[in-house]
Amino acid sequence: MQTRIFLVAAAVFWGTLLYARADSIWLDELNTSLILQGWGEAQKNQSVTRSPLRISGRKFEHGVGTHAVSRLWLRVAGGQHFTAAVGVDDGAKNAGSVEFEVFGDGRELWRSGRMKGGDQARPVDLDLNGIKNLLLLAADAGDGIEYDHADWADAQLTFSGAKPAITGAPDEEAVLLTPAPVPSPRVNGPLVYGCRPGNPFLYRIPCQGQRPLTFSASGLPASLRLDPASGIITGMAPERGDYGVVLCAENPHGKSVRNFSIVAGDQLALTPPMGFNDWYAYYARVTDADMRHAADVMIASGMSDVGYQYVNVDDCWMGQRDAAGNLAGNARFPDMKALADYIHARGLKAGLYTSPGPLTCASCTGTFDHEAQDARQFADWGFDFLKYDWCSYGRIARNSNNSSSGPQAISLAAYQLPYRKMGSLLRQQSRDLVFNLCQYGMGDVWCWGADVGGHCWRTAGDLGFSLQQLFAVALKNSEYRAWSRPGAWNDPDYIQIGHIGSASAMGQPKPCPLTPTEQYSFMSLWCLMAAPLFYSGDMTTLDEFTLNVLCNPEVIEVDQDPLGQSAAVARLTPTTFLMIKEMADGSKAVGLCNQGEFPVQLTAPWSVLGLSGQQRVRDLWRQKDLGVFSNEFSLPVPRHGVALLRFHPEK
Ligand code: GAL
Repeated sequence: MQTRIFLVAAAVFWGTLLYARADSIWLDELNTSLILQGWGEAQKNQSVTRSPLRISGRKFEHGVGTHAVSRLWLRVAGGQHFTAAVGVDDGAKNAGSVEFEVFGDGRELWRSGRMKGGDQARPVDLDLNGIKNLLLLAADAGDGIEYDHADWADAQLTFSGAKPAITGAPDEEAVLLTPAPVPSPRVNGPLVYGCRPGNPFLYRIPCQGQRPLTFSASGLPASLRLDPASGIITGMAPERGDYGVVLCAENPHGKSVRNFSIVAGDQLALTPPMGFNDWYAYYARVTDADMRHAADVMIASGMSDVGYQYVNVDDCWMGQRDAAGNLAGNARFPDMKALADYIHARGLKAGLYTSPGPLTCASCTGTFDHEAQDARQFADWGFDFLKYDWCSYGRIARNSNNSSSGPQAISLAAYQLPYRKMGSLLRQQSRDLVFNLCQYGMGDVWCWGADVGGHCWRTAGDLGFSLQQLFAVALKNSEYRAWSRPGAWNDPDYIQIGHIGSASAMGQPKPCPLTPTEQYSFMSLWCLMAAPLFYSGDMTTLDEFTLNVLCNPEVIEVDQDPLGQSAAVARLTPTTFLMIKEMADGSKAVGLCNQGEFPVQLTAPWSVLGLSGQQRVRDLWRQKDLGVFSNEFSLPVPRHGVALLRFHPEK
């Protein structure tokens, strides 16, 4: 009996001692700079907007203030308990809605349900025994991230042994998916090409394979000439009509042919324009030399061999007007015509930027009151593309008498006015100028962009570098898919992968914040949306991985398909969805999209894809057939991944 009492006492003693040895740590004592989130930066013991943590009037001394969608990864081996009180911070003024979720080693441990601003804090109390990794997720509750100030208040971990640590997203190896091009030729590029009769014509045949190559073409209109060594077609666009051309490239390893239909008429950009825009590489410090270098890199890197064509300078090239109102480049752009000539000499096209307002977004000279003069000037210099960025025009539009609902509201006519004016002026030039409307989607621009002479229009503000935007943008853009068609493209902004520049004057290019999988997803989603494909990253540090993402001709073919459809979304769940794009040849491009934090098996049933019978399924990134399937196809898709497939009916 005495022995038993002794054993119980000993157990209680050691148990108490062990428990006493368990340490505790506030979440805010860890490295919160590794938290990824949709807006702003995570704050210790403060809300994301740096006010005291407060949920429904209750104040908290400790905690981490984040903004949805926020992801906080923790290594907790040796962890015992996680406790917190979660809610939307009062700083969000009763707006915002968040869903808090906790995952342990990929398994859901707890979820708050949808919480709105003003709701009382909900307690979390979780046993962490046996769990190695924890993910604290504050999701947007399905309605976007506006005012989603998500607090992990009073968040505390108890542990024995190794101290918990915030780790950042799981590491991922950069695997190259696109197979290396083979030495035999492969003619790439769009199957249709629009031009206006009698205007200068310039087209560099995109073609991979070992150089030197010998190019030829049958069916080329008499007004055009092909240089067999460079593959550059020049001359004057022929009379109105459709010209069926067959392009051919040969080298000692083989021969490649591709149909190419030249459509001389009123339409340009029959497939989404592709190229480079300098903004996210060089910002306000861009120079003529940067742009020339970008043109050289576009050729040397092989980008032009898969269809990248436009070399577009963004804001900050312009200087002052002279007494006659003529605009010239600034000191960094001494000769705009010489720059366009340099780009054209390589078979590429030149683009530039201005604003309908008196000033551009970076406060350089805009076009206001000089529209006709500038349009003529841009054409005389030889530019082929104009981005027209709203910027300071807002003040003019608000003061215009067009508005029936008061001086501050902008009427639809006032939104359209500057674009209609410039669209018509560009149309009058004896050059083909592709017109890009940049006004961030105001007045539902997708409904009328083409009517005012636009070929593509930004559907939203600047994309930024937050990774959850990728999937959100694809879902949003799919709502405007009815307006996507040849010559009229929804533009979700640039492809910002690889190395991106720093806005500060001395900033060095740095890797973008996206994982390798996210960078492939970026490209997959843009191609499924039939979006303009403009790379906007540093051209001096283009690496093998970035080129692998940018330069897969089978993937680009999805974007450049002549039908011009933007993918429809199906089977939407909080973390997964399918994108389905009809292709001109009767096949379908399909994206199996996983915005979730863990790999999932995704299934595409024929009933959802609108298919029947046997289908040959091709993995477009790996350029590999996966087999012939009936009824459905399913595949594991990594965290934040998009499996891009093409389904061909099996005859
Ligand atoms: C923004 C525009 C960006 C870039 C920038 C230049 O309004 O959305 O793409 O052009 O202006 O100042």
